[in-house]
Amino acid sequence: MAKRTNKATAGRAKKSGERVRILISRGRLQKRITEMAGQIRKDFPDEPLHLVGVLKGAVFFLTDLGKQITGDVSFDFIAVSSYGAGTHTSGQVRLTRDLDSSIEGKTVIVVEDILDTGMTLQYLLRVFEQRKPKRLRVAVLLDKPERRLAPVQADYVGFTIPNEFVVGYGLDYAERYRNMPDVGVLSLAE
Ligand code: IMP
Ligand code: MG
Repeated sequence: MAKRTNKATAGRAKKSGERVRILISRGRLQKRITEMAGQIRKDFPDEPLHLVGVLKGAVFFLTDLGKQITGDVSFDFIAVSSYGAGTHTSGQVRLTRDLDSSIEGKTVIVVEDILDTGMTLQYLLRVFEQRKPKRLRVAVLLDKPERRLAPVQADYVGFTIPNEFVVGYGLDYAERYRNMPDVGVLSLAE
């Protein structure tokens, strides 16, 4: 039987039994991110914006979003770990890398890859609120509202998606697939 090539994962590390189906193409990602950048700047026309990316999943989103926001923009990064490497987070969040600089008095946009249970964002918002930013907003590329446990929501959402495990464009499964330029649904069926 001829070997079928999968467009989503062509040339990428993929283990047997894993399949990826493209959910959001690179073109749709860029188009929506440009819209989000315009909306963010429209909401804060005259303010320096401080983007805080949550490592590692949000790196591509932050860099693409940041390039599309006009005017004064600075970046910082924070890293959290939510104990466990599978397709489900355990709900226990821990800070593994803190910001380089103070956010006091700044207009901060937290940039996150995906809002799932909301535990990570709830934790981060508590941490950031204590540091007295002028304003605190949240931009997420993807939102899976069906899975929400913590009462948090994002101010800017790229795409609302169904309850499926997604990879690509920064999102990983056990650290793999982050480099896929599109977002795809991963299935582990044999
Ligand atoms: P939450 O704390 O459950 O909202 O999950 C947030 C984090 O879990 C995200 O920043 C991702 O790192 C990870 N995550 C949640 N859903 C997915 C997914 O579908 N694919 C890859 N990572 C995910
Ligand atoms: Mg992750």
